Amino acid sequence: MSGAQKDLAIEVKNLTNAFGSHVVHQHLDLDVYRGEVLGLVGGSGTGKSVLMNTILGLREPQGGSIHVLGQDTRNEKGRRGLESHWGVLFQNGALFSSLTVKENVQLPLREHTHLPEKLISELADMRIMLAGLEPEAGHKKPSELSGGMLKRAALARALALDPELLFLDEPTSGLDPISAAAFDELITQLQSTLDLTVFMITHDLDSLYAICDRVAVLADKRVEVVAPLDEVLKSEHPWIQAYFHGKRGRSSAVGA
Ligand SMILES: Nc1ncnc2c1ncn2[C@@H]1O[C@H](COP(=O)(O)OP(=O)(O)O)[C@@H](O)[C@H]1O
Ligand SMILES: [Mg+2]
Repeated sequence: MSGAQKDLAIEVKNLTNAFGSHVVHQHLDLDVYRGEVLGLVGGSGTGKSVLMNTILGLREPQGGSIHVLGQDTRNEKGRRGLESHWGVLFQNGALFSSLTVKENVQLPLREHTHLPEKLISELADMRIMLAGLEPEAGHKKPSELSGGMLKRAALARALALDPELLFLDEPTSGLDPISAAAFDELITQLQSTLDLTVFMITHDLDSLYAICDRVAVLADKRVEVVAPLDEVLKSEHPWIQAYFHGKRGRSSAVGA
């Protein structure tokens, strides 16, 4: 994979993000290759979610350029064109609580396609299955689901439009270690079956070890390192040293 020109799914160049005088990102560059699982780590409040939202075109940065699948997400038309090519699992899940799981999964299909009702229903059932839920779960409201099932339901909705790209913001935080490991396994399976590119923010070291092809470290307002995990571990950056070498031996998968 090294050397030769690789297909870029996401290209972030010289990004600046600030809230008033609080600069979150500066001179931030990041490339995500098609077909890889990229894990993004960084201390709390370093701007991981802000970076994801900016890539998704939900936030206007102060400077820099962002291209996803070759389209500029700062451009309204470019972003709209991409909405059916990516699936997103936000940090707080955000399923509509008044709708059943299946109705939640059907929403993007209704919004972005003109498929007949029967097909929308069948596709939603299929996504629910793909996300590892029993069909009955489709008839439940989010409040009736366990934490792990909620994440899967949100994943089913993210997969609704058969996306090329999957964005996950801390998908296993709040899950017990067994549910978290099962979720990681599901992501790995989906990635290879559906040929997805996955951009995953995580605090979960087990996830990084288990499923990420490369790990990007957000520190000092930029992506300090992006490399396979064994290379990242060699970095002498103090945060990386403290994070990986301080906790490496732990077996818990609970988000920090
Ligand atoms: N809408 C906002 N207004 C002001 N500050 C914000 C806003 N969103 C995020 N921030 C600030 O940006 C920084 C990065 O936030 P965030 O991306 O959520 O961090 P994390 O890496 O934990 O996901 C934090 O200091 C946060 O307070
Ligand atoms: Mg966050």
